[in-house]
Amino acid sequence: MALRNIVKDGDPILEKRCRPVEKFDAKLHTLLDDMAETMHHANGVGLAAPQVGMLRRVVVIDISLEQNEVLELVNPKIIAFSGEQEGNEGCLSFPGQWGIVKRPEYVKVKAQNRFGEEFEAEGKGLLARAFCHEIDHLNGIVFKEVAERMLTKKEINQMNV
Ligand code: CO
Repeated sequence: MALRNIVKDGDPILEKRCRPVEKFDAKLHTLLDDMAETMHHANGVGLAAPQVGMLRRVVVIDISLEQNEVLELVNPKIIAFSGEQEGNEGCLSFPGQWGIVKRPEYVKVKAQNRFGEEFEAEGKGLLARAFCHEIDHLNGIVFKEVAERMLTKKEINQMNV
């Protein structure tokens, strides 16, 4: 495994639509392993492939406190959602920036695992938010575009982050 560089604010790759994964090979497995390591190293709860410069529909999410429950989503699609939540959202590609973003409270996704097998996953709260945020990345959408508004410096200072 290896750490990869996280693409930052202003890089046009963050605005591009990613291509589906067709080969579930060693290269994909290395990408998934590296993305998980990079996400954990940066203390993030999610990372999408374009954030490490790869225009592929690949996402890793880990909302566990111990950072030991990585969810790997290849070619993910939202197949159901309900409710609404409003809360602060950040992104490893936009360090120090936070926005208030409305997301569904519950989200169900269909995806493939690293071997190409289809599965479904569902989540509410933070996990639902992470599904939406990361899948948006695969469509070239970053949280700033969908935020109600961005937090001020003063508000960020009061967040203890
Ligand atoms: Co992000």
